[in-house]
Amino acid sequence: MPSHQVRIRESILVVGHCVDCMYKSKFKVFNVVGARPNMMKMAPITAEMRRHSDLQPVLVHTGQHYDFAMSQVFLEQLNLGEPDHNLQVGSGTHHAQTAEVMRRFGELVHAERPDLIVVAGDVNSTMACALVGAKELIPVAHVESGLRSFDRTMPEEINRVVTDSVSDILFTTEASAAENLLHEGIDPGKIHFVGNVMVDSLVYALAAARRSPMRDQLGVRWGEYVVLTLHRPANVDDPIRLRATLEAIVKISEDLPVIFPIHPRTASRALELNIAQMQAWSPSEKVGSSGIWTMPPASYIDFLGLVDSAAMVITDSGGIQEETTYLGVPCLTFRDNTERPITITEGTNRLIGTNPQNLLREAQAVLARSLRQVSRNYTPPGLWDGHASERIVSIVRNYLAKSGITVSAAAGRV
Ligand code: UD1
Repeated sequence: MPSHQVRIRESILVVGHCVDCMYKSKFKVFNVVGARPNMMKMAPITAEMRRHSDLQPVLVHTGQHYDFAMSQVFLEQLNLGEPDHNLQVGSGTHHAQTAEVMRRFGELVHAERPDLIVVAGDVNSTMACALVGAKELIPVAHVESGLRSFDRTMPEEINRVVTDSVSDILFTTEASAAENLLHEGIDPGKIHFVGNVMVDSLVYALAAARRSPMRDQLGVRWGEYVVLTLHRPANVDDPIRLRATLEAIVKISEDLPVIFPIHPRTASRALELNIAQMQAWSPSEKVGSSGIWTMPPASYIDFLGLVDSAAMVITDSGGIQEETTYLGVPCLTFRDNTERPITITEGTNRLIGTNPQNLLREAQAVLARSLRQVSRNYTPPGLWDGHASERIVSIVRNYLAKSGITVSAAAGRV
């Protein structure tokens, strides 16, 4: 072959290779999960990203939660699959855990140079990974941004404020969030009201949740039991407070059994109190018609099924306030504040403070009014419609397309 033809052919191959690179190239997006509540937020976003050929979602698990019941079962039920990277950070003091996530995630980010880091919620892993992104000059998107309890004694409130202050794209679930962010001086151009991504997961899993055998295994009937969750340090770390709370719940449980899937933080403390009416449920038996029945942390689908048909939920969790709002299940939030005010103004949530006597009064009032029937007939808050992840991914793709990172530069990192 004449030499000029060789040169032309080589250049076609080079061009062909480049075109191929550009064609196959994707923006690399780190989707971070750490603790249980992150999983239901990141699952629909990751699934939606997998549908777009210009995105390469990479699932990074910090390992903040590591037990099968707190992590693996959620990955499986939400179709997240095995994480691409598990940093295996584990438990520790807040500062040690945060620092260790930063150290390990920092090394990964340094090696892999993602084009975007997506974090969700308010756990230690959320803040730690957002800080790494900010320091490595990699854009950060925060899902469930702007929620504020205005209580800086809650570790989650610190995590929310810090994460929002360093994030480049802020996805909000309700109107109060944008107000809070604007009040803190955040650029309005960064804020996007997209609705509630937890509701996407809920909508995805609800049919399976309604088929869950959990209720039958427990031996409870639709609308004839209460679900309890407690894990906030302020509620469970002091044994005197915890005893007073559980004794009030024992009184509530004289009318209906209380099902208590118990968080690891709470388990040893609550069991040490030796409250006679609080018993561990054994899967080979049905629960009694009264009393508090503890069980290991429930899987996502089993828990959703239990909440969906409960007479009432008593909780100090954030996400459960939203899930009960969507499902129309009466919820008593055993806290002095909530970062999710829409669950009160538009939902079925009541913020009742942390006085056990008040809890007893409020619970008896809910059960007496049979609010469960009434609360079925209302519309969920705006954009809590099962499509938040589509809106998020569309905004992410636009952001990346305009970010100045060229497709071929991204390809070099794949
Ligand atoms: C964390 C989040 C909280 C979230 C909760 C959901 C922060 C600050 N808090 O609280 O916002 O609502 O997760 O569950 O990030 N443990 C296990 N197995 C596990 C995980 C934890 O046994 O898989 C035990 C450990 O002993 C640990 C304790 O639970 O010390 C608390 O875990 P940690 O992740 O520190 O905080 P959570 O209370 O779970």
